[in-house]
Amino acid sequence: MKIKSVNLETVCGITSKMPENDKLEVAFAGRSNVGKSTLINGLMNRKSLARTSSQPGKTQTVNFYNINDLLYFVDLPGYGYAKVSQQTVEKWGKMINRYLDGSKVLRLIFLLVDIRHKPNQNDLQMYEWCTHYGFNPIIIATKADKIKRSQKAKQIKQIKETLQVVEGTPVIPYSSMTKEGREEIWEYIDMVYEG
Ligand code: GTP
Ligand code: MG
Repeated sequence: MKIKSVNLETVCGITSKMPENDKLEVAFAGRSNVGKSTLINGLMNRKSLARTSSQPGKTQTVNFYNINDLLYFVDLPGYGYAKVSQQTVEKWGKMINRYLDGSKVLRLIFLLVDIRHKPNQNDLQMYEWCTHYGFNPIIIATKADKIKRSQKAKQIKQIKETLQVVEGTPVIPYSSMTKEGREEIWEYIDMVYEG
């Protein structure tokens, strides 16, 4: 898709009502600092529309980006950042569940995990929430530039095995530095609105 317009249209905090959008949504979930906002910028060819940070916990809201007036990218709050209080963790979980449960136009979830690490309990939880609400998330293994090419297959295998993904689930290595994986991710997004 050629990006003509992108616009951060709605930002939802813990008490906000989620929008009832009339265009389809593609959501990005994953641990804090995994690279969700960076990926969204990369897909939109914007350097910094989605706020990114080397400090985990940057995105604490559900952010809806209107893409070409055709669909929404939904940047979900990152989970599993150790330094926030348990109360905050619960709030995030609630917000994510409220969104997954409530959206009538969500069609695709990308679950991001860091290619260097074995998915943890939070990632498993997120994967389970997705399947609970009837989604089979596509996995994006971020920061692919940070490992040696020779390690990639092993890391991807570990991610698949740890998350116990549904058979046939794609795991796409992505790097914001080299843009490896960008085209493949767009192919899945294109399928959403092309129907
Ligand atoms: P929260 O908003 O806290 O949930 O984090 P996030 O998942 O949105 O992470 P964000 O996009 O803010 O990225 C976190 C850090 O990782 C930033 O310093 C990014 O520059 C860096 N980063 C993200 N993707 C990549 C990548 O593919 N390669 C490398 N080398 N760094 C990356
Ligand atoms: Mg973010």
